[in-house]
Amino acid sequence: MSEIVSFTREGEIGVITVANPPVNALSQPVRAGLKAAVEAGLADDGVQAMVLICDGATFIAGADIREFGKPLAEPSLVPVIDAMEAADKPIVAAIHGTALGGGLEVALGCHYRVAVASARVGLPEVNLGLLPGAGGTQRLPRLVGAEQALEMMVQGSHVPAPRAQQLGILDELIEADLKAGALAFARRVLAEHRGVKRASELPVAPVAADFFAKFEAGIARRMRGFKAPFHIIKAVEAAVNLPFAEGMQREAQLFQELMGSSESRAQRHVFFAQREVAKVPGLPKDTPRREIRQVAVVGAGTMGGGIAMNFANAGIPVAVLEISREALDRGLGVVRRNYETTASKGRISAADVERRMGLIRPTTSYDDIADADLVIEAVFESMDIKKEVFRKLDAVCKPGAILATNTSTLDVDEIASVTGRPQDVIGMHFFSPANVMRLLENVRGKATADDVIATVMELSRRIGKVGVLVGVCDGFVGNRMLHQRNREAMFLVEEGAKPEQVDKVLYDFGFPMGPFAMSDMAGLDVGYKVREERRKAGKVEPRESRWIDQIVELGRHGQKTGAGIYRYQDGRTPLPDAEIEQLIERCAREAGIERRDIGDQEILERCLYPLINEGAKILEEGIAARPLDIDIIWINGYGFPAYRGGPMFWADQIGLKNIVAAYRRYAEQLGAHYWTPAPLLEKLAREGKGFYDL
Ligand code: 3HC
Ligand code: NAI
Repeated sequence: MSEIVSFTREGEIGVITVANPPVNALSQPVRAGLKAAVEAGLADDGVQAMVLICDGATFIAGADIREFGKPLAEPSLVPVIDAMEAADKPIVAAIHGTALGGGLEVALGCHYRVAVASARVGLPEVNLGLLPGAGGTQRLPRLVGAEQALEMMVQGSHVPAPRAQQLGILDELIEADLKAGALAFARRVLAEHRGVKRASELPVAPVAADFFAKFEAGIARRMRGFKAPFHIIKAVEAAVNLPFAEGMQREAQLFQELMGSSESRAQRHVFFAQREVAKVPGLPKDTPRREIRQVAVVGAGTMGGGIAMNFANAGIPVAVLEISREALDRGLGVVRRNYETTASKGRISAADVERRMGLIRPTTSYDDIADADLVIEAVFESMDIKKEVFRKLDAVCKPGAILATNTSTLDVDEIASVTGRPQDVIGMHFFSPANVMRLLENVRGKATADDVIATVMELSRRIGKVGVLVGVCDGFVGNRMLHQRNREAMFLVEEGAKPEQVDKVLYDFGFPMGPFAMSDMAGLDVGYKVREERRKAGKVEPRESRWIDQIVELGRHGQKTGAGIYRYQDGRTPLPDAEIEQLIERCAREAGIERRDIGDQEILERCLYPLINEGAKILEEGIAARPLDIDIIWINGYGFPAYRGGPMFWADQIGLKNIVAAYRRYAEQLGAHYWTPAPLLEKLAREGKGFYDL
């Protein structure tokens, strides 16, 4: 037997042990080893039953995703699982950690399943744009019914072991040692002559005639653009309507379709990028971390309160400092209401609310935050105020404390320069609402020390965020690129497109909402103030859209005032407004712009290609280290559809030379100022390469 899958005997029980770190993925040696081990157990007359158990942190966490897209080396998984299930000696899967995807499918092919209470099981293939392709779509519905199986597979959820036992996925929970418990279980199966229990031989409970159509309608909007959830429904339909063997064929065919799809390729890219992003190029893996035991947040406004919640949620005590008692009461009142809302939905308990509020310590005195290991400043977006706060932090904070700013537009280096310890200063750019949004742009300054970066990147994960390291520039990565998209969206409307048309094109592309609905939601006054500041500073753009400013000047600040680019009868559904259409037409006339019908393709290209071009500049300047950093920012912070892999991955699929060709076309039509391709984009296009060839 191989070292990766071993076979030993414990009396009459054969023990198959998988040891394939880090997650015991089902790579070729594991598949071959499982096959050989089961054969060995069957051939050995002294063996009456078998236990399948894994070494390390987890049971089998799935197929080896790194093998996808390459020709599969024999044996493939389905015949291995079929052979296990066909065995006439009972096989018991003993689960700890996670049994996911192919891992759970192996367990479903075993005759019995036991697990420790902390284990979780699931079929998360949907997150990779796939469906369970080793019998999961056929066996799970036989154990838990079509509806429950669909819920699990379409959500890709990890089901805790106690719940999995209730559902009938697990036969027993093991309280003490898993191996000993599983062996005892196997012996009981033998003693009670329970024999082999094959999931494939169970009937599937019937469902109503319109069940699948209804289920599909229920997820249609939420899952739009994704292919896998809808293929999963088809596979479960087959489980219900066809004999097992035919259902397996249907599953295989649907799985192959997904495996070859652009959606799955993109989602698999995202899976690895999401993990790769935590590894900072040039930063050794063993860079020391500073210990973060207590945190302080300065400012309890929109952002500060949400930021503090992240730490309380992770069990880390956090002090919150404000200028006055009233400001503190207001800020913490919002935090409490947020928690209470979550509790009212049953997602946390009343005791959780109190425990988390108990971890948040309000103060108006800097002395109270002198011991913090990390301070995050989230006061007004004003350089003068931020400098004043950082001078104070420099004076009171203990040596080695990390001093972070949540600024969204200001220069982190300039803020650091007022302290005597710029090596300890870093940007932590949370996104609103800060307790919800997963993206965290960590901004490295000129002087930021390596251990500060390593600590903050690791901490991001600890508080449930996806931390991406970026450099200092105007808007950092996300907002700098967003600015390009918003500019073109505004120009397009001036030239004749309707706001709702632009929004629909981007919604249909896969964004949760279009740029105008998003601006209305964020508040139009925010952008207005930024543009006013720029104008005051003498930064004039060669072309400016006046219409958007005029909307703000009418007092229409977006959803919060009941009207912005759209009008809102119910407070949240955007409705096109004839008054705004007239305003736009007038502004266009005054600017001498001839209006025309604009096609959807032009809208898409003009909104998204400049985003990619800016991404190229960001890479050239080293503001983002890799294209994957940009992709992860856009997927987690801006709703870029995961099934398109992020803007840079998507650009590679379109072909950079096609993007450059479009740039040339638009330069002729609209002038070269906004339509000159970045040198890196041009170079890669010329060489026939993509961003991911860098
Ligand atoms: N294949 C290959 N590598 C995998 C893997 C897999 N299925 N799952 C995880 N890894 C790798 C990660 O890339 C990472 O590698 P790195 O250290 O080089 O970056 C390492 O294992 C550790 O992973 P995490 O950082 O994610 O570790 P966590 O402890 O946070 O999480 C986990 C562990 C919950 C198992 C998580 O890794 C996970 O969700 N994995 C994916 C599970 C999955 O999607 N399984 C289904 C696969 S598809 C399938 O089975 C098809 C079948 O139906 C035919
Ligand atoms: P806000 O106006 O809601 O809150 C700021 C808070 O800081 C107020 O409660 C104020 O009383 C307090 N404050 C002001 N001066 C202070 C001082 N000297 N000491 C202690 N507290 C002080 O502002 P918001 O939206 O929370 O923004 C805070 C920071 O976060 C800004 O830098 C902003 O650019 C950034 N940001 C904002 C985002 C947003 O969507 N609102 C998104 C990402 C970053």
